Amino acid sequence: MKKFLLAPSILSADFACLGKDTKKVIDSGGDWIHFDVMDNHYVPNLTMGPMILKSLRNFRITAFIDVHLMTKPVDNLIPQFAQAGANLITFHPESTDHIDRTLNLIKENGCKAGLAFNPATSLNFLDYVIDKLDLILLMSVNPGFGNQSFLPSTLNKLREARKRIDSNELDIFLQVDGGVKLENISEIAFSGANVFVIGSGIFDYPDYQRIIEKIREELKYSDFKFIH
Ligand code: DX5
Ligand code: ZN
Repeated sequence: MKKFLLAPSILSADFACLGKDTKKVIDSGGDWIHFDVMDNHYVPNLTMGPMILKSLRNFRITAFIDVHLMTKPVDNLIPQFAQAGANLITFHPESTDHIDRTLNLIKENGCKAGLAFNPATSLNFLDYVIDKLDLILLMSVNPGFGNQSFLPSTLNKLREARKRIDSNELDIFLQVDGGVKLENISEIAFSGANVFVIGSGIFDYPDYQRIIEKIREELKYSDFKFIH
């Protein structure tokens, strides 16, 4: 039972040897793989589709893969990512006309479901769907690129999201994505996050195992709920 989960974002991995780099980060202590999907429409960048996820599964990557859809629309991609081997699929409320239907679609396809909030997106989108969620993702940068600076306004938003989860006695992962590093992770954990997406904060270091150990050491004293 782990208190905090680390989800290395392979957006910062070496795409010329993605399978090997992904395996290396898991063998070095990463818990989940965070898989960023960008479409040059919802966000101004273009990354990976379901075929690449399938290739990682064929390369015997068995870790939990958390797919972050930054695309518009999303519904047609959900069955494709589920079949390719995704475990959890997260989308942004602005990217679908029917949030509830999209959440059902993810569940029908056998995956856990997450809802992602851009820095200026209100948490009010949680009002009628929170009980259907396995994960809430708070973006701590504007989505589209790795290696941006963490927006401090995310800390209050994390506290608010944590309150909503705990006051409803729900078992929902609270994930934070963007600018998370060794230097700020304990403050972020104190604010209520328990799943940390980290791209450049791991992949920019030559020794993944060493930086992951340091991050875990930093998290040791941040007191939040245990993940079951
Ligand atoms: C940004 C992506 C992030 C990105 C984070 O749009 O959703 O997952 O990889 O990268 P870092 O940790 O470098 O900010
Ligand atoms: Zn992401």
